[in-house]
Amino acid sequence: MSTILVTGGAGTLGRQVVDRLRTDQHNVRVLSRSSQPYAVDLRDDDSRGLDEALKGVDVIVHCATTARGGDDRAAAHLIEAAVRAGTAHLVYISIVGVDRLPLGYYRTKRIAERMIEDSGLGWTILRTTQFHDLVLRILTGATKLPVAVLPTGVSLQPIASSEVATRLAALAAGPPAGRVPDLGGPEVRTLPDLARAYMRSTGHERRLLTVPLFGRAYAGYRRGYQLTPERAVGKETFEEFLATRKR
Ligand SMILES: NC(=O)c1ccc[n+]([C@@H]2O[C@H](COP(=O)([O-])OP(=O)(O)OC[C@H]3O[C@@H](n4cnc5c(N)ncnc54)[C@H](OP(=O)(O)O)[C@@H]3O)[C@@H](O)[C@H]2O)c1
Repeated sequence: MSTILVTGGAGTLGRQVVDRLRTDQHNVRVLSRSSQPYAVDLRDDDSRGLDEALKGVDVIVHCATTARGGDDRAAAHLIEAAVRAGTAHLVYISIVGVDRLPLGYYRTKRIAERMIEDSGLGWTILRTTQFHDLVLRILTGATKLPVAVLPTGVSLQPIASSEVATRLAALAAGPPAGRVPDLGGPEVRTLPDLARAYMRSTGHERRLLTVPLFGRAYAGYRRGYQLTPERAVGKETFEEFLATRKR
């Protein structure tokens, strides 16, 4: 049994990692801005709360993220504290394509990856494709109006966050493994195809309109930098995920 700190352990992915680790009898601590007794904003320069949270911790699973920015600063603080505490293993969840798609959020995640690789800590990094939960959020937003507008020529390979959580929990229970093989969902599907699956499940019919976008990020998406078809090892399809949400 190890003592494992899960940052972002109250989020979509983190809470499932916490559940699996607790089921496997590990001693688990949850850290996020709102999780007592380890309520810490990882972007803060004051390290007292973080140092306290890391006392006696064997493994960190770093799932915390702030979409509005600062994940690189958060990672820097976490790494410094882990080095001070002598933590044996830091496991990080990243995204397929962070090194190729020019998006600000991805840039901070790639910086975090590099800092972890150079930290001197034992480390494991897993990159995955988009979670079904995120694709559902995107499509819910896109289909609010009578005409759903989607970018032309973009495909995704969504994966169940539950499967990612299972893999991360297994990695956290093992020795540092470095960069492990990417994890992709079972199917590469165009956005309109995913939107039609979503509309079938909700009964909300919308007209779909695809429009070409401009810019390097869009070009990267069209080239499929966000995909890993050779690692389509996830099992749950988007339709199966949508069906579980209806139960
Ligand atoms: N969503 C995807 O499709 C996808 C795909 C591949 C990889 N990932 C990666 O998986 C990880 C988890 O994503 P998710 O979708 O589960 O995120 P999420 O649901 O937004 O959860 C984020 C968690 O981080 C905590 N948090 C946010 N800012 C923090 C801060 N400054 N200090 C400490 N804790 C903070 C949040 O709790 P509080 O609000 O209480 O602080 C929450 O528990 C991220 O690294 C993401 O890049 C996501």
